[in-house]
Amino acid sequence: MQMNLFSLAAACLPEKRLDLGARMGMMPAKLVGGIMVEVHARIDPESENALAIQMSSVHKWFGDFQALNDVSLEVNQGEKIVICGPSGSGKSTLIRCINRLEPHDKGTIVVDGHTLTNDLRQIETVRSEVGMVFQQFNLFPHLTVLDNVCLAPVWVRKMARAAAEKLAMQLLERVQIQEHAFKYPGQLSGGQQQRVAIARSLAMSPRIMLFDEPTSALDPEMVKEVLDVMTELAEQGMTMIVVTHEMGFARAVADRVIFMDEGQIVEDASPEVFFDHPKSERTRQFLSQILAH
Ligand SMILES: Nc1ncnc2c1ncn2[C@@H]1O[C@H](COP(=O)(O)OP(=O)(O)OP(=O)(O)O)[C@@H](O)[C@H]1O
Ligand SMILES: [Mg+2]
Repeated sequence: MQMNLFSLAAACLPEKRLDLGARMGMMPAKLVGGIMVEVHARIDPESENALAIQMSSVHKWFGDFQALNDVSLEVNQGEKIVICGPSGSGKSTLIRCINRLEPHDKGTIVVDGHTLTNDLRQIETVRSEVGMVFQQFNLFPHLTVLDNVCLAPVWVRKMARAAAEKLAMQLLERVQIQEHAFKYPGQLSGGQQQRVAIARSLAMSPRIMLFDEPTSALDPEMVKEVLDVMTELAEQGMTMIVVTHEMGFARAVADRVIFMDEGQIVEDASPEVFFDHPKSERTRQFLSQILAH
């Protein structure tokens, strides 16, 4: 019965390549203290001072096409990284490799001390620690907002329904959408749906959040409400990688801004250096194009 429900939902959703567990971050993981509402970065004593993410010489091919070409990236715990670059430059592929939605072909990726391999248990552990928010929200259309947020805590974390609802309401309050808890996604604006999607990811108490162009499908007036929620998360110490072309957000929130082109990291600098003194001509050209709008 539940599996039928899940299969139906999966079939309705646009991102076919994404398996359901990954979509929901629905993997078994430890939960400390029953309900976990605070989204302050959780520091695991074993991994204290460790890098949150370490990518070394990562290569990724789709057939003959090389989507990532010798990408190395280190992200400290609590760091906020913005990634930008032209369409097809490998931004989504890079962040999808971090939670193994795409397997990389060469090089190493270590997430919170776990080296990514084909080991399914390892992948589950990593996915339980890494939340992901997509451009197209990917909410389950036939479930209420509250049920969308409760799903993973109930089915993966085995949380009692009442506790899951309490957690969900607190998270919905956090993203200021609590008054819509009993509506269906189709009854909400894009900005509201995206805030629900963020709340749903947070319900799994992730240590790292990946955002793939979370505002690019939104009408301009809804962009700010989503960026405000992300800014608040950043201020609370969440480790974040955000693919976005919202350069105001990058300037205000990012510790580092990365520019990708043709599967490579071309620039990796503080916002001040990135915007005012980029070292590469390609970055300068890109910035002049997007800042002109
Ligand atoms: N599953 C796939 N199969 C084949 N090619 C793919 C696949 N996913 C991505 N690619 C190709 O890899 C390249 C990088 O794609 P990716 O989605 O990472 O780019 P992007 O920088 O996120 O682009 P955009 O800004 O348009 O989202 C593109 O040329 C894309 O066509
Ligand atoms: Mg993309």
